[in-house]
Order: sequence, then C-alpha cells, then structure tokens
Amino acid sequence: MIYLNNRIVPKSRARVSVYDHGFLYGDGIYETLRVYQGTVFHLDEHIARLFRSAAMIQLTIPKTHEAIKRALSKTLKANRHKDAVVRITISRGEGPTGLDPALCPSPTFVIMSHAFKPYPAKHYQQGVKIAIVRTRRNYNGALNAQIKSLNFLNNVLARIEAKKEGALEGIMLNYRSFIAEGTVSNVFFVRDGVLCTPSVNAGILDGITRGLLVECAKELRLTVREGMFRKDALMSADEVFISNTTMEVMPVSSVNDTKISSRPGSITKKLRRAYRKKVNAYIKKAERSNE
Ligand code: PDD
Repeated sequence: MIYLNNRIVPKSRARVSVYDHGFLYGDGIYETLRVYQGTVFHLDEHIARLFRSAAMIQLTIPKTHEAIKRALSKTLKANRHKDAVVRITISRGEGPTGLDPALCPSPTFVIMSHAFKPYPAKHYQQGVKIAIVRTRRNYNGALNAQIKSLNFLNNVLARIEAKKEGALEGIMLNYRSFIAEGTVSNVFFVRDGVLCTPSVNAGILDGITRGLLVECAKELRLTVREGMFRKDALMSADEVFISNTTMEVMPVSSVNDTKISSRPGSITKKLRRAYRKKVNAYIKKAERSNE
C-alpha cells in the first residue's frame, strides 16, 4: 500500500502524472528512513532534513512535521510493516512543461514502505569492494549535495562506473579532487587510530548515520578528523567503511584493486557495535513512551 496525496492506495493504483515535474525534471526531494521493530529511527531528524531540502529548492511541503509523522504511521500500519525501509518523496507536482515551479500548484506527496531485506551477512563479515570513480560529485555551487533531491543522475552515473568495476559502491571525488562521498553513502577511514571522514564542506550530504557515528566515536574517545582528504589517504588507510540509514556501518575490503589491511578493522567493529547500541536504546525509549 502506498500513501499518495493524503490517501492510502494499493500499489497498482498509485500513479503519478507524466506531467509531474519530478518525472520531467527531477524536481523534488526525498528521504529514506529505517524502521526497526515498528520504531522509525531518528524520524525527527529525517523530517527536519526533508524540510531543509525543501527550503533549498523553494518547495512548500503540503504537510506539517506532525502530519508527516501521522502519514508515515498510517503507511506502516496499512502494510503491517515492523522492519522496513521507508521512502518519503515529494515532487514539485503536476504542471505544464516549463521549469518555473509556479506552474505546479500542488506538490505530489508519496510514502512507500518496503519490508527490510538485510544485506548479506558476508558483507559485514568480510567487507565489500568499493571503487573511486571518475564521475565527480556535483559542484555545490551548481547543485548543493545537501539537497536530498530527485535529481540523482550524478549518483546514477557514478554507480554505473562502480558496477563495471564489480564494486558495491562508487566513491566520488569533488571538483577539487578531494574525497566526497558514495552514491548513496558516506565514507570513513581509519589511519593511525584516527577516524577520518570528509567534511560537509567537501560537498556531501550530511548523512544522519554519519552524524551518529561521529557521536559514537566521540563517546568512545576516538579522535575524529572531518576534513579534506586525497584519494591516496583512502587507498592506504588501515580501515575503511561506508555508512547510510540502511547499511548502517559496512566494512570495506578493497578500494578499486587495493586491499585494505584490516577488514573489518577493530575500530569499524567498535563503531558498528556502538551504532547498534544506539539503535536499541532508541527503540526501547520509543517503546517506553508509547506505553
Ligand atoms: N542515501 N550520501 C548520499 C549521496 C546519500 O544518498 C545518502 C543516503 C547518504 C547517507 O545518508 P543517511 O546516513 O542519512 O542515510 C550519503 C539513502 C539511503 C538513499 O538514497 O536511499
């Protein structure tokens, strides 16, 4: 069942116009959220980011923060989903052709929920291959990476390259050749015990998982460096991992054809455990407040 513009409809009837500017121009925004045992993890942060993305494209979301929460819980109920991945998509809406957002009087609002399919355990036990690709991350001055937008061709092109290399994820450098991020993930590496990750100024999405992992690292008293890094730093790192809402912490075994020495490394494992602890604590707290 799909939530489409205020109604729950079966998937077969969840249709959007070919004149929707999301379809015509990639004009819109989205969020991906993870549901654990019926609790949407860091829902408020995801909704806040949705509103930030909307503001950056001058889109007025036709619902309040609270109304989005209600719509989300209706969608989960309708699908009887407890462990799920949810996507909220808001496009500019239907309108005649032309780029002017004013052509579209009402945004299209969609919530989709899918039962969570875990990644293969092997990915976490042995690590995955990632590849630094030739496609550069959009220059922020052209399209700010902090807009979680439907305009995803930059990432799609990078993913095509990664797949050709047999890699699960493609890592893009920014226009100045500093490491930016993956097509759907943020990247971290460890050198001499220091946890490093590209700074938001490198032109990346400030991932919610990334933020929580930086928090975990500080709680574990690890030194964290958010900065500008060259690809050599990643290739010669002691440990590498990628993160997002659905992967959580995914260890990396090789970057292109370079093997990473510790896979998964001890700091990666510690952070993965610390993240899982945060998830469990969050679920418990949510359950207590629902009692
Ligand atoms: N992607 N960078 C990019 C380009 C992303 O698309 C994502 C998330 C992230 C990680 O963000 P977070 O930790 O908030 O999930 C970083 C989601 C999962 C997606 O595209 O479905």
